[in-house]
Amino acid sequence: MRRQPLVAGNWKMNGSLSANQALVAALLASRQGMEQVEIAVCVPYPYLDQVSRLVQGSWLALGAQDVSAHAAGAYTGEVAAGMLQDFACRYVIVGHSERRTLHAETDVLVSAKFAAVQGAGMVPVLCLGETLAEHQAGATLAVLFRQLDAVLAEHGVGAMTSCVLAYEPVWAIGTGLSASPGQAQEVHQALRRHVAALDEQVAAGLQIVYGGSVKADNAAQLFAQPDIDGGLIGGASLNAKDFLAICQAANY
Ligand code: PGA
Repeated sequence: MRRQPLVAGNWKMNGSLSANQALVAALLASRQGMEQVEIAVCVPYPYLDQVSRLVQGSWLALGAQDVSAHAAGAYTGEVAAGMLQDFACRYVIVGHSERRTLHAETDVLVSAKFAAVQGAGMVPVLCLGETLAEHQAGATLAVLFRQLDAVLAEHGVGAMTSCVLAYEPVWAIGTGLSASPGQAQEVHQALRRHVAALDEQVAAGLQIVYGGSVKADNAAQLFAQPDIDGGLIGGASLNAKDFLAICQAANY
């Protein structure tokens, strides 16, 4: 049996009150042909309140793009997991490559953020990805296992029962150069086997989504792969028509 597909939009640092209103209204107007898919939008912090109100009581889930590892206190500029929960966030992206590279987030910090999200009753979307240089050096799996093991070592395989893994090759993000369905499938299968070595049942239920230049025209082929359980969508999630087409492609 296949796992429930998930398609999550990662708006990154995009949006405005008026643009969000129009985008969410367009999404909410069209559920047809994607009933099997869990769909979420991960929005910038200042818009959590707005979008949380817009999606309240609907099928569209809300997510955030980052979180502090700390629960509260003197951490200027940080946002705690409990605050995200106040806005009914269901998902929180942790370890996105833009944060790992541009904000020097380490595996240890990402692992602490992962725990903060679960501790507040939300679902972490743990991003794993190798750079182009690592990819070309044949180090893809070594890098991904290192990133994943940082979480497994700290929180155990049980932590994989309420999380989503997102394989996002850094060389595919925002470049228009997606991994091929075969390439992505191979990596997803390896990640699942890595978890299965610790617990087969947990691995069988683990949602592993793909991210990196997913578009309306390549989504169906990617999502048709047996170990690809949906997508994390950046650029294409800002356009309702494109995002909805991707959601429909996940309705298998
Ligand atoms: P992209 O971004 O779809 O624009 O490549 C994906 C992501 O960074 O999550």
